[in-house]
Amino acid sequence: MKIEIIIINGPNLNLLGSREPNIYGDNSFENYYKSLQLKYPNILFTYFQSNHEGEIIDKLQQSDNNFNGIILNAAAYTHTSIAIGDTVAAIKTPVVEVHISNIFKREKFRQKSYIAPHCLGSISGFGLSSYTLAVESFVNLKHLK
Ligand code: DQA
Repeated sequence: MKIEIIIINGPNLNLLGSREPNIYGDNSFENYYKSLQLKYPNILFTYFQSNHEGEIIDKLQQSDNNFNGIILNAAAYTHTSIAIGDTVAAIKTPVVEVHISNIFKREKFRQKSYIAPHCLGSISGFGLSSYTLAVESFVNLKHLK
């Protein structure tokens, strides 16, 4: 049985590659996503990005029970959205929170996550490899079962 994982990216993550490359690197998400799919041929990936809070909530709700795991980078909504936090708390499918930058090393307002308390775990600060580490966490969980 293939592991099925959805990656949900929040606002401005469609700009990766050109957006503040000193913080987020110069690789586009599309480029990275291709390499992720090649690295894990046995995992079925789905990718969704939205700049809109409600669309992220809808996608989380729709993803519940349809994937083995959800990787969520809610971007700036991480620090503001009680609504997305409530959705993660409400659904059964495990969610791993990721951040490209180390949010604890940045401005005070980025050090608070409304998502983290409802997640299996959080990965922050490893560039795009944060997503790879999140995938690994699901692969390893599967082995534990
Ligand atoms: C981010 C960190 C957030 O503070 C920021 O608003 C983002 C990206 C990250 O991946 O490092 O858009 O989630």
